[in-house]
Amino acid sequence: MSNYKLLKGFSKLTDAEKLRLVVSGLDDSSDALSTLKSFHHPDRAVQQTLSAFSENTLSNYALPFGVAPNFLINGKVYMVPMVIEESSVVAAASSAASFWAARGGFEAEAQKVEKVGQLHFLFKGDRDKLFLAEAAICRYLREGVRQITARMEARGGGILNIELKDHSEKIDHYFQLHVGFDTVDAMGANYINSVLEEFTSLLGDYFEHTPGFTQDDFEPLMAILSNYTPNCLVTVSVGCNLEEFGVVGGLRADEFTRRFMQAVHIAEVDVYRATTHNKGIMNGTDAVILATGNDFRAVEAGVHAYAARSGQYRSLSKAELENGQFRFSLEMPLAVGTLGGLTRLHPLAALALKILGNPSAKELMMIAAAAGLANNFAALRSLVTTGIQSGHMKMHLPNIMRQYQASPDEIQQAISFFAGKKISHQSVETFINNLRNRKH
Ligand code: MEV
Repeated sequence: MSNYKLLKGFSKLTDAEKLRLVVSGLDDSSDALSTLKSFHHPDRAVQQTLSAFSENTLSNYALPFGVAPNFLINGKVYMVPMVIEESSVVAAASSAASFWAARGGFEAEAQKVEKVGQLHFLFKGDRDKLFLAEAAICRYLREGVRQITARMEARGGGILNIELKDHSEKIDHYFQLHVGFDTVDAMGANYINSVLEEFTSLLGDYFEHTPGFTQDDFEPLMAILSNYTPNCLVTVSVGCNLEEFGVVGGLRADEFTRRFMQAVHIAEVDVYRATTHNKGIMNGTDAVILATGNDFRAVEAGVHAYAARSGQYRSLSKAELENGQFRFSLEMPLAVGTLGGLTRLHPLAALALKILGNPSAKELMMIAAAAGLANNFAALRSLVTTGIQSGHMKMHLPNIMRQYQASPDEIQQAISFFAGKKISHQSVETFINNLRNRKH
């Protein structure tokens, strides 16, 4: 049962008042305040920056910030920062990165970088007149937002295209302005939304003052970017001759690749498997997106919509074998930025970008996609050979031990004991009970 009551004006309270109020609602509040405070940043200015990212901030939520070394992408070596709570992801990415670094590394290309915004509106006037005026409207809108777009244009970006779309067959009177943007190295969400909102008022003016239209013809509904960015695409691939594989997970190269390709094929035809397969890709990609201060919800939404573009949700990656040459590749939309937003404000996001050599947005797309392909490869490699649990549980063993308040020495003993053995919660509990009973 919750002890909290409906509140008015919570956001107006001071930080200390918010903390007290939240803690006072707990049945056992003994260490709640100290737990929250223990994660405050010691530097007040940094804490203020972190707190200001959101509203009603009580503390900072810590997740591991790690790196996966040995990513060789287009001939350049990267140390890839990853933020993730799942114990085996960084290890899997590192292992796959090293495996492929020894076989030529990743080849990647950011093919297109168009972001999208939409102005959704109802139009009750003459449709033909509207389409006759399309070019004039687009000119008028571009001209009207010159001030907002000037800086972006100076950086080489801006509005790429504006298209008027008639969707009135789906919803009565529903039309759209579908706008393509190049935001160069910025995520560009605020820029896109500002342009679109200015379009809304400009379009209202246009209909009011242009003969043949009236103000009442036009009802703006929403102006917002779209997280579906099929023209902001990156591809990444790895490949080698079958002979270069050697023995993988106890399997000969031909047997391994046969099973591996079957696994990818299953993810192309079965939605249950495709979802988990793509989740394995996003383990790597999201971890880089998070580490670099990008919006992982936006990326997730766009990626999964892309995976379903044929009408069936499918694997984002594909595997091919031709004349003894194996190729494993991934294509995904990644709308990211390396300027603005949290990328520079969050001290660790800024550092993550520094570790990556301050990449352009295109370069970051390639790195995040390579991390996705690496994790996908590592997961499938385990699944079609040893199974996933042995590696996963090996990495998870210290976490299970900590649930029993194990000391560092006990954890070390557990690691030695379980080397080469099957690990389960039950077997770890038995181990720790035996260990502690022996001591008494
Ligand atoms: C777990 O986080 C990810 C996997 O389930 C991915 C996969 O099944 O391909 C191992």
